[in-house]
Amino acid sequence: MDILILGSGGREHAIAWKLAQSPKLTNLYIAPGNAGTAKIGTNLAIGVNDFDKIKEAVLAKNMDMVIVGPEDPLVNGIHDFFLNDSELKDIPVIGPQKAAATLEGSKEFAKEFLLRHNIPTAAYQSFTSETLEAGYAFLDALKPPYVLKADGLAAGKGVVILNDLQAAKDELKTMLVDAKFGAASTTVVIEEFLSGIELSVFVLTDGKGYKVLPTAKDYKRIGEGDTGLNTGGMGAISPVPFADKAFMDKIHERVVKPTVEGLKKDDLPYKGFIFIGLIKIGDDPYVIEYNVRMGDPETEVVIPRIKTDLVEVFQAVADQTLDAIDLEIDERTASTVMLVSGGYPEAYEKGKEIMGFENIEDSIVFHAGTDLKDGKVVTNGGRVMAITSYGNTFKDALQTSYRSIDKICFEKMNFRKDIGFDL
Ligand code: AMP
Ligand code: GLY
Repeated sequence: MDILILGSGGREHAIAWKLAQSPKLTNLYIAPGNAGTAKIGTNLAIGVNDFDKIKEAVLAKNMDMVIVGPEDPLVNGIHDFFLNDSELKDIPVIGPQKAAATLEGSKEFAKEFLLRHNIPTAAYQSFTSETLEAGYAFLDALKPPYVLKADGLAAGKGVVILNDLQAAKDELKTMLVDAKFGAASTTVVIEEFLSGIELSVFVLTDGKGYKVLPTAKDYKRIGEGDTGLNTGGMGAISPVPFADKAFMDKIHERVVKPTVEGLKKDDLPYKGFIFIGLIKIGDDPYVIEYNVRMGDPETEVVIPRIKTDLVEVFQAVADQTLDAIDLEIDERTASTVMLVSGGYPEAYEKGKEIMGFENIEDSIVFHAGTDLKDGKVVTNGGRVMAITSYGNTFKDALQTSYRSIDKICFEKMNFRKDIGFDL
């Protein structure tokens, strides 16, 4: 099989790394990829939203399958683009069609879906500039902290949580009237604040059956002890120690099953990953969000724990025969630590040479924001590399990652030394 992966992060390198282990793989292409994916496949200088160029490459190289990493092309309808094109329609795309991708593309749509299918989630109402006054009244009726969410995609920055009522009202106005997040905040969802510990569950579905993948927990804040600004994710572990069988059974019955059934009932075709962001309150799971893709850096701990041939798994998704696959999971824990550029998630510099990562044997080095320049691997983003290790416990795995990180350096390299601190 010749396969194309769309994306350029640690997630896409981890998927590429796993696919490359399959005897069923012939050629692997990554668009646009990074310095890590260039070592195991062919990078194509094509953006993930350039559907015409993607079509050209898929046809020119006779590719057999496309795996979509990030949400953007899914929300923009890449799967529909393939289905509606006479030359592309028989080439499977892993990732939902546009209608179902709205689960990530619109928070309001996701909340309505959750409510319609009786899936536990925070109480909410949504508002536009026309209903600003009603929004103020809803905030008056809530207890702090106040959770405001821009309805549309806002590059992970669209959720604002505030303790002060007046600040929340001001923020609502800034989002709705001053278009703080552009068109993404034309509608704002205001939610009841849920207090608990978060985890993520990943489901792979072919639209008929599904597999629940290993759980993971990511660490989003830049600072130790979960302080400072939000990032794309600074590290992750899998499995989540508190997700025991009793809790997973509840997640399965109350969240996963009604989600997959709900997609069918609502006629939302779905072949791909569902990322369910959950919060545990007491002993009960509540849904915080859906994403229509894998998480990053969660993929860097989930994929290494899947033993089954991933080409076979994706082929089964395409053929809707996922029920026949026996998904084998590695019993070991996996942990990953993200190395980031100094200054991230605010302004940072690129183009710094990365040294010491090539001879690491005890960990897997997944590239994220890296590039090749004059034969050297240099930084090319805020999140630069994810260092993943296995262990009997997440602490063992982390120790191995931190030992490997001791050997890696680039100017102003930063990382969190406390992944898993809260467990
Ligand atoms: P989201 O972009 O929906 O994942 O939200 C970003 C983060 O905001 C989540 O990972 C949570 O930590 C937090 N969050 C979102 N919704 C709520 C809520 N209703 N209650 C408490 N925290 C929330
Ligand atoms: N790590 C969170 C995400 O991928 O959205």
